[in-house]
Amino acid sequence: MTMTETTLTVNGQTRTLDVEPRRLLADVIRQEFDIAGVHIGCAHGACGCCTVHIDGTPRLSCLTFAVQCDGRDIKTVESLGGFDATHVLQLAFKSEHGLQCGYCTPGFLMTLVPYVEENVARGTLPSDEDIREAMSGNICRCTGYHGIVAAVRKAIGDQIGGGQ
Ligand code: FES
Ligand code: FES
Repeated sequence: MTMTETTLTVNGQTRTLDVEPRRLLADVIRQEFDIAGVHIGCAHGACGCCTVHIDGTPRLSCLTFAVQCDGRDIKTVESLGGFDATHVLQLAFKSEHGLQCGYCTPGFLMTLVPYVEENVARGTLPSDEDIREAMSGNICRCTGYHGIVAAVRKAIGDQIGGGQ
């Protein structure tokens, strides 16, 4: 079996591994780095559960081979607010009831954190329609999405002083 030497940095931890070229980034993060916040829902790019940041950009780790990430900086949901989930968007998910079972939540957070940061930097409070468009690649089977939209609105509004 051909293995490829691959160096990955996940949440600040750099490791060089011999990886089969067909192995998915999601599996390597979970099994080799022992990081459980990368959830796998559909495993074919439809649900967004497995979203991580690769060099700061949200990507689906179920559609990414680990060897493609050689030398890249990868962040999972564990990088946001730690065990107490203190990131502004995590706190808003909590207060606005943006989660129930929580299985989809890491993916939503990793998709939406850059979106929140971009809007805060611009000082703009987006419309609910715009927020729904931003999270259209993520599926939640519990919440009906309303609480997630409210959480994004709150996370942005609180930081720019625009309220909800
Ligand atoms: S598990 Fe990757 S998109 Fe569903
Ligand atoms: S909170 Fe259960 S799938 Fe979204």
